[in-house]
Amino acid sequence: MHAVAKPYDVVVVGGGIIGLVTAWRAAQRGLRCAVADPAPGRGAAQVAAGMLAAVSELTPGEETLLGLNLASARRYPQFAAELEEAAGQDIGFRACGTLAVALDADDRAQLRELHALQERCGLDAQWLNGRECRRLEPMLAPGVCGGLRVEGDHQTDPRRLAAALLTACERAGVAFHRVRAERLLCHGDRATGVAAADGTRLSADRTVLAAGSFSGRLAGVPPEVVPPVRPVKGQVLRLRVPGTHAPFLSRTVRAVVRGGHVYLVPRENGELVLGATSEEMGWDTTVTAGGVYELLRDAHELVPGITELPLTETLAGLRPGSPDNAPLLGATELPGLLLATGHHRNGVLLTPVTGDVMAQVLTTGEPPAHARPFSPRRFTAGHSSVPSPAPRAADGEAPARQELSA
Ligand code: GLY
Repeated sequence: MHAVAKPYDVVVVGGGIIGLVTAWRAAQRGLRCAVADPAPGRGAAQVAAGMLAAVSELTPGEETLLGLNLASARRYPQFAAELEEAAGQDIGFRACGTLAVALDADDRAQLRELHALQERCGLDAQWLNGRECRRLEPMLAPGVCGGLRVEGDHQTDPRRLAAALLTACERAGVAFHRVRAERLLCHGDRATGVAAADGTRLSADRTVLAAGSFSGRLAGVPPEVVPPVRPVKGQVLRLRVPGTHAPFLSRTVRAVVRGGHVYLVPRENGELVLGATSEEMGWDTTVTAGGVYELLRDAHELVPGITELPLTETLAGLRPGSPDNAPLLGATELPGLLLATGHHRNGVLLTPVTGDVMAQVLTTGEPPAHARPFSPRRFTAGHSSVPSPAPRAADGEAPARQELSA
């Protein structure tokens, strides 16, 4: 059995972007941190499109989450600059804005409702007719009959973000244990670290569970504090815009097509990300013919020229869904155990604010005021503000060697 002699201040379970930003920010504040993950920097960020869509993905009933999303969106430019400086790597942050369009009368009615909600929330979104949409994005289909221009919803490249966070962590002295955390260690009524599949024991004063959709699967966590997260599958395609087609799209373009969401995120390097399905399939990450077909069919209605582009990648990832679609950030009822998970559709967007919130909780014991509604304790039995749960996915079996990563 291997043992690490000196306990860490913090061990983070899961080396996806949420675990990495937590470790980086905590290390910057002088805490001795470790990350346990067989493949840090992988996880859902390798699939995600990287839209920072606080305004265009606003959903009725999620106005509290909107506040956190907007706070993180506002932090992005400075966060990107600071991380790029720390890592010496670009994270592909692009202040390009978003255009959400409607293809028929039903879509337009839905978009009008979204616009009304945005206005009630004091958000900046401008209604455009079909001609105005096509003037902004000439590749749009002639049938586009209206849209919303959201100047403040930008993008970053999640793969570059993950790589930069990994380097920033290494430079800040975070220790990486490339092992799969299997069991929470407890002494008395306190979490004291984790034991890994290979026998490694990582002792720590605080353990942060940041393992994305796998956060509820660590053995040894008392049932009342197991995070209520579930995997929500998203299939995503990547295409390449050859130099001759550039600029194909100049901003993120999205639409609701027959009730399904489709978005196209153009990167400066010519990559075009097309997403995403949203499926309650347990831990299944199979790319299906049906998923690829529906994405291409809907995207083709939106931007017919897309079928000429080379298709370079098809992938499926798992969003960590929570009962109210909002993250769980901070201390649990078990002393020494904290959560940074449940980011659902907003993991990339919420990365900056998650790092700040977790670092503050880890250094002071208290979250900042704007993060209090996202305490994991809201789901603890008897707590007064437990939101009504959304339907949970049937628990599927994780593949035997599935990694824990956010
Ligand atoms: N936020 C985009 C997605 O989750 O598909």
